[in-house]
Amino acid sequence: MKLIYQVSDLNILNNQFKLNLSEKRIRHMKGASDYAKSLCELHKIDNADNIINMCFFHDIARDLDYNVTKELAERSDWKILNIEFDNAVLLHSPAGAQFLLENKIFLKNNMKYLEAIRKHTLWDKKESFELSFLRLCDISEYSRDFDGVEKIREKAFEDIEKAFTLSEEFRKGFN
Ligand SMILES: [Fe+2]
Ligand SMILES: [Fe+2]
Repeated sequence: MKLIYQVSDLNILNNQFKLNLSEKRIRHMKGASDYAKSLCELHKIDNADNIINMCFFHDIARDLDYNVTKELAERSDWKILNIEFDNAVLLHSPAGAQFLLENKIFLKNNMKYLEAIRKHTLWDKKESFELSFLRLCDISEYSRDFDGVEKIREKAFEDIEKAFTLSEEFRKGFN
């Protein structure tokens, strides 16, 4: 298994599995992993490689056709909510985690990272560190550009737990 995946690896997967990932999406996924890397280094976070890969792959199923996304979700062992089946945007998180698992792309023995990918579009009262971290990187990676994103980034460099809370507040505002 590779330690850290690169855009070249993603391009290969994109072609091989017809993932339909757009350039913009790839930029976002790479942005999330680059941002994760900076935060892991600064805060000396354990298992940084897995965290960075988790952020890199989190939207792997985001541009798949709905039917393919649905089939992936149906094959997974995760409980999928009806609201997810009704909404392709929500469904890409379990579908993506299932895709990574089935294809043994990464983290075979590290379900907590896949679990975070699986849940990243849902609300969950008991969030793991990995899920909070993924959501923070998803919302405030370098290609994001909305009022307040700088504030989240500044907070993330100062105090990561506070940045988790702040990013969730912004996320609520988006829904
Ligand atoms: Fe996503
Ligand atoms: Fe994302």
